Amino acid sequence: SSILVVNGPNLNLLGTREPEKYGTATLGDIERLCAGAADAHGLECDFVQSNYEGALVDAIHEARQKSLGIVINAAAYTHTSVAIRDAISAVELPAVEVHITNVHAREPFRHHSYLSDVCRAVIAGAGPLGYRFAIDYLAELTRDRNV
Ligand code: DQA
Repeated sequence: SSILVVNGPNLNLLGTREPEKYGTATLGDIERLCAGAADAHGLECDFVQSNYEGALVDAIHEARQKSLGIVINAAAYTHTSVAIRDAISAVELPAVEVHITNVHAREPFRHHSYLSDVCRAVIAGAGPLGYRFAIDYLAELTRDRNV
């Protein structure tokens, strides 16, 4: 049983990207955090990071067959992408939207998300821990399902 963890554009640069905003954890650190959190629930994670919108859409489609749920930090595509939103709706898996920063305390263009209302939960501003909270929540939500 696995959870798909999706990271969008520029998150491959975590650790060196504006560390005063995003912290010093790398994407590898975050993926290890996710794997550990999933393991505590007897689950696994599949990871995808892409700077391309269509690659993220493809990964979400593939989750339909093999995942219990989706954790997604779509990064800047959060604020622009109807395609990613429609992919989340299409696969009918529980999804949790995660942002490292508190997007509501930032520029107004980050306050709107195309994803939030098709996600079961939204976690913003908790730093990398937000990914762990998302996995704990999905594990609890899908506890009785053995996919
Ligand atoms: C982000 C917030 C987005 O507004 C931004 O474009 C990102 C990262 C976050 O994790 O805080 O790239 O999703």
